[in-house]
Amino acid sequence: MKELIFATNNKHKLEEVRAALAGKIKIISLQEAGLEGEIPETADTLEGNAKQKAQWVWQRCGIDCFADDTGLEVEALGGAPGVYSARYAGEHCSFDDNINKLLTAMEGKSNRNAAFRTVICLIEGGKETYFIGQIEGSILTERHSIGEGFGYDPIFMPNRFALSFAEMPLDVKNKISHRGIAIQKLAEYLG
Ligand code: IMP
Repeated sequence: MKELIFATNNKHKLEEVRAALAGKIKIISLQEAGLEGEIPETADTLEGNAKQKAQWVWQRCGIDCFADDTGLEVEALGGAPGVYSARYAGEHCSFDDNINKLLTAMEGKSNRNAAFRTVICLIEGGKETYFIGQIEGSILTERHSIGEGFGYDPIFMPNRFALSFAEMPLDVKNKISHRGIAIQKLAEYLG
């Protein structure tokens, strides 16, 4: 079976990708590949960050690999927080801090359109291929969640649904989400 290293330190993402590619591709974690250290993520686009993370692996071991990067792009804010979604409210901020900042920035805005976008950069034999997953929705005016929710999930409602991401069962969210779509495209490409 073909093997690929997934350049992430996030265990949940690793599980999600392993489930989507089960039986097709063996996904190797950074730990299993013996790669340690902080992966740089300093580009100003999602594509740039995905490429930077995948190249970090490729340059260290020359094994086929991929990386992803995601951002929440809000129309009324000119696409912010976008590539800076993880640290919108500052370095080392919490999900809650980010949500509070976004709710404040959106106060009084009637255009609440937003989209989550995931970019995956796959490197095979040094060649880069990109896969993009996107889901459109709107930013709610307050949190809607059962339990904690991840990232901006409590305030994002995908179009054609009456629930926020944080109110959906995880398997439903994973099927329709930006990351789910990008992973599906990667899976189809890899056959
Ligand atoms: P990452 O590139 O996947 O680490 O995502 C960057 C940031 O986007 C995360 O820290 C979250 O704040 C946000 N994010 C990514 N995916 C999701 C999601 O599925 N729901 C809510 N927020 C997300």
